[in-house]
Amino acid sequence: MLEVKILLEDKEMPKKWFNVLPELLDLKTPLEPPLDPKTKKPLDPKALEAIFPKALIEQEANMEKMIPIPEEILKVYNIWRPTPMYRAAKLEKKLNTPARIYYKNESVSPAGSHKPNTAVAQAYYNMKEGTKRITTETGAGQWGSALAFACNYFGLKAAIYMVRVSYEQKPYRRSMMQVWGAECVPSPSNKTNFGRKILETDPKNPGSLGIAISEAIEDAVTHSDTHYSLGSVLNHVLLHQTIIGEEVKLQLEKIGEKPDILIGCVGGGSNFGGLILPFIPQKKSGENIRMIAVEPTACPTLTKGIYAYDYGDTAGLTPLLKMYTLGHKFMPPEIHAGGLRYHGDSPIISQLVKEGLVEPKAYHQKEVFEAAVMFAQTEGFIPAPETAHAIKAVIDEAIKAKEEAKEKCIVFNFSGHGHFDLKAYDLFFENKLTDYYLEDKYIKEAEKIVEQI
Ligand SMILES: Cc1ncc(COP(=O)(O)O)c(C=O)c1O
Repeated sequence: MLEVKILLEDKEMPKKWFNVLPELLDLKTPLEPPLDPKTKKPLDPKALEAIFPKALIEQEANMEKMIPIPEEILKVYNIWRPTPMYRAAKLEKKLNTPARIYYKNESVSPAGSHKPNTAVAQAYYNMKEGTKRITTETGAGQWGSALAFACNYFGLKAAIYMVRVSYEQKPYRRSMMQVWGAECVPSPSNKTNFGRKILETDPKNPGSLGIAISEAIEDAVTHSDTHYSLGSVLNHVLLHQTIIGEEVKLQLEKIGEKPDILIGCVGGGSNFGGLILPFIPQKKSGENIRMIAVEPTACPTLTKGIYAYDYGDTAGLTPLLKMYTLGHKFMPPEIHAGGLRYHGDSPIISQLVKEGLVEPKAYHQKEVFEAAVMFAQTEGFIPAPETAHAIKAVIDEAIKAKEEAKEKCIVFNFSGHGHFDLKAYDLFFENKLTDYYLEDKYIKEAEKIVEQI
């Protein structure tokens, strides 16, 4: 019988995260350090202690190849991990493709996505160092609910700034955060100076991840018991997500498979990084593994952005990161994949794209929802709109394999379910979704913005 569900036993769950940083040292494109926004010199890690616990600051630049996962974190991971990997046999049949398609199902976590892999680790290290309250931003609400779940587990308060357009599109994500005891406010909000300033000139501002990050940081630095937490982009976040790729390696080994293509959607790069980074040593040693990073055409950071130093937030409070960016003032159109509406990207993923090890690809939201519906009607699981971007690329690659009559092993990350995104599915069926093209004038503006830094 065809093995459709590939499981690991609890005792097989990896006990270490994979640290890609040592692997990046000999690439032609160097991984540039974060810069202090005031001096424009490499950042003194001590400057981050106002917002992050020391353990996470240390992980940002750690050079050990594998980093042991603390026992307390493993215990929480074990609530839903190891996660299943499935063979998408019915999708393969529908596409009549010779490709074998596998997906790692990260939607089985309590919050419904991969985000708790880092939320749990971040809440744990904060709790250990005496933090009482954590602030963060959330786009789609997946990250906010993951952090709410993790803070509740470790007895911390959480204050979550949710991008206003998503707050209105997805009221039940807010409910979920409240169930776990977190406070969730629409951003821009009246709670911070930065939020108030935006609302004064533009009371209907839909918000963006960049604005919500600025608000969450301002809240953290103005409360002495409070730290800030970022759900993507930074090295330590991608590190925590590598448990995904470490499990996938074991699962593929079990069935004697080797991946030809790895695919994930990219907002800030954490679920994609979590899947692909553990395969980087193999790729560097010459194994032919394609790695495809998928983003929306409405916010095409990797496919159209500029590789330059930029702020991670709109107000310009964060250190400067070397990354692909559309400029920190970029206001992405109101697409339904809220978690992919980010102007920048992870410096690690940006470096891998620049180096040519990762291929970026962008899709419009209508074709993405078409792919999501095909997946749900074959495989059963309803994907989050973010995840559906990866699915569209998978379907395209499977069709290409058929045209070329080539057997390919395609593995993708099913980063989250879409149970709170059904309004977007309704709009798709009513033919009310809009596709957005990013005109070149925005790229010119972005160039000007990063030049002025
Ligand atoms: C389900 C899901 N997938 C993917 C993403 C994109 O984030 P990242 O690129 O950090 O994985 C998000 C972000 O909110 C998400 O909710």
